[in-house]
Amino acid sequence: MSNRPRRPSKPYRRPRKDPVRILAFEALRAVDERDAYANLVLPPLLDKARAKGEFDARDAALATELVYGTLRWQGTYDVIIAECVDRPLRDVDPPVLDVLALGAHQLLGTRIPTHAGVSATVELARVVLGDGRAKFVNAVLRKIAAEDLDGWLEKVAPAYDADPEEHLGIRHAHPRWIVSALWDALGGGSAGMEELLEADNERPEVTLVARPGRATPGELLTGDAVPGRWSPYAVRLAEGGDPGEVQAVREGRAGVQDEGSQLVALALAAAPLAPAGAGNGGAQAAVRDELWLDGCAGPGGKAALLAALAAQRGARLVAAEKQPHRAGLVSRALEGNPGPYAVVTADSTRPAWRPGTFDRVLVDVPCTGLGALRRRPEARWRRRPEDVPGFAPLQRNLLRQALHAVRAGGVVGYATCSPHPAETRAVVDDLIKETGAELLDARPLLPDMPGLGDGPDVQLWPHLHGTDAMYLALLRRTDAANGA
Ligand SMILES: C[S@@+](CC[C@H](N)C(=O)[O-])C[C@H]1O[C@@H](n2cnc3c(N)ncnc32)[C@H](O)[C@@H]1O
Repeated sequence: MSNRPRRPSKPYRRPRKDPVRILAFEALRAVDERDAYANLVLPPLLDKARAKGEFDARDAALATELVYGTLRWQGTYDVIIAECVDRPLRDVDPPVLDVLALGAHQLLGTRIPTHAGVSATVELARVVLGDGRAKFVNAVLRKIAAEDLDGWLEKVAPAYDADPEEHLGIRHAHPRWIVSALWDALGGGSAGMEELLEADNERPEVTLVARPGRATPGELLTGDAVPGRWSPYAVRLAEGGDPGEVQAVREGRAGVQDEGSQLVALALAAAPLAPAGAGNGGAQAAVRDELWLDGCAGPGGKAALLAALAAQRGARLVAAEKQPHRAGLVSRALEGNPGPYAVVTADSTRPAWRPGTFDRVLVDVPCTGLGALRRRPEARWRRRPEDVPGFAPLQRNLLRQALHAVRAGGVVGYATCSPHPAETRAVVDDLIKETGAELLDARPLLPDMPGLGDGPDVQLWPHLHGTDAMYLALLRRTDAANGA
């Protein structure tokens, strides 16, 4: 044993580097600074950490939960942090706010013990912000830790009766304008409203589609996977299931696709067509069903299912997409389709095809994406109310041109991944007035599902159906429409 006196411990201790929290912070900065999407930023960061041997599966799961949870609850955490900081939040540097939000999520949104959440976040602050700002972080986190989430919500959310939209918005981490829009879309009653907001805060399970004629659902039912709820082609992976490990997915015979999207494609494919001359008093022509168009195809999920369905009945799909790189994704999704198809980079509002060319047309139009908030945790805070009218002219124009592109008696599916009435019914109503198209009852073309509403269009819901909130209206072009 050495008799040397022990050296006094240094006042300065190097901060402990915690790769999980550092990675989570980097992802939050990318989302904040570069307007990046978390679901695109995170996977390469995780891959890099795994390749360096820094991460195992549990670390990756924790990093994912920290990033997604912090982003999803950001607006509510900001309200709570604002109560604990003695200056307006806009005067707090964004990286400091990101560390505070990450800390708030650990303290209020996870089972991480309070002392561990505080000390891990303060260590992170020492690494990424420096000692001075770490002290500030420490002081704020200690105030946040004084209450649990329910305690804070009691304090910061107004009473339901005083302001129901703000109350629900803060309690369920949705901006007020989105609460208001979802409420309108649900029909204004209180039924289902809290369930919907809660469902938006759940991470969706991964659903696969077995592309008909190319793969069977049975082939995808390995491990703990279970059949889909509604689509005959759907298989749901168990939590943590990796689609990349499924051979049919690697070979492009199956893909990742929400059941709502599968149902949209299936309903369009099943919609009854009328012969072109029907109603003109002439002889009934055979019902042509040969040529289909997906006018907004990128990245190609619905196009791949439609192309496979078309192939089974000897029809051909043309998949049009305006953005060249997204048209490339469509080509990849359709590769190996058993029947003929074409992918074109084209603007579907200035069609290169003649009016009346197609028997079935899908326009799954660009929209606010308010129906897929559970997939994109940051989207709800990034979207603005003015985005809704911003999409309106394009949505109307795409539907107008789809109704030109389809032949008389053919059917157009108008789909959005948003339940906002201004993006769904309002667009469809305007185009029916303008073109005289007939609105078909889409409900019988979907499986026997509860909560499909009064029709004739359908709105799917995460809390009722476990799908994204896809909207679908089916319109049949009449002879009178578009001067046919
Ligand atoms: C909601 S996404 C379609 C998703 C796709 N149906 C799927 O299931 O994978 C809308 C797509 O329409 C494309 N788009 C937007 N304007 C367009 C236009 N004028 N002509 C053709 N495509 C357009 C966008 O680039 C985007 O890829």
